[in-house]
Amino acid sequence: MNRLRKPFIAGNWKMNKTVAEAVELVNDLKQQLGACKGVDVVVCPPFTALTAVSAAISGSVLGLGAQNMHWEKAGAFTGEISPQMLRELYCHHVIIGHSERRTLFGETDEIVNRKLRAALANHLRPIMCIGETLQERQENQTEQVLQRQLTEGLREMGAADLQQITVAYEPVWAIGTGLTATPDVAQAAHLFIRGVLKEIGDDKTAQTMRIQYGGSMKPENAAELLAQPDIDGGLIGGAALDADSFTAIIKAAMPREK
Ligand code: PGA
Repeated sequence: MNRLRKPFIAGNWKMNKTVAEAVELVNDLKQQLGACKGVDVVVCPPFTALTAVSAAISGSVLGLGAQNMHWEKAGAFTGEISPQMLRELYCHHVIIGHSERRTLFGETDEIVNRKLRAALANHLRPIMCIGETLQERQENQTEQVLQRQLTEGLREMGAADLQQITVAYEPVWAIGTGLTATPDVAQAAHLFIRGVLKEIGDDKTAQTMRIQYGGSMKPENAAELLAQPDIDGGLIGGAALDADSFTAIIKAAMPREK
């Protein structure tokens, strides 16, 4: 972690939690976190629980995010949700291009780019997910893949746009598998990503953008990962579904008093 950048922990609940379970989880989190200084914390429940969670977290330190959205404002897009609809529920963040969206639902870099631009146009702060598969890593393609996902996904965006975006580095082989990138491997990827962001934007922008790590981050490995200079937070899946483990990760991200 670097003092230029406030740590940012987000919970990606995926397709989990009924409305009642979602409210119970955020109520537990609110109680455990108290005032929680020095870390930005966001929860991303499924669409169906956004309204109830939005009400439950009102006035607390928790922010609200969605896991996906369509880029159009309205129209014949059965099953989709627009940026405006998210804003109406006081949602301020949105995950874009998660690897599950890319692999299971066919999202391309071009779609990711459209969604990012629509999110920004509607004052939603995107968490843009990128990351290589196991095969790509084994074939030494990691850097090319990250470079392509960033360059294509962030096409035609300037420094002001980039400043609104958080990048989440999520190696696909580490998501939900219990395999975590070692702190060194993750740090190397984050440093590379920051270099690409500098090429796309400028040095100052790249230095202020937060890059989260995601992929089996849990209380046992969070502190070590978060201690790396270019790891500015985490996008947490499984461990965000439990108030105790999510709180422990948030506490690991809190800046230490000197
Ligand atoms: P995981 O998921 O923490 O369960 O590996 C992370 C993610 O998919 O965002």
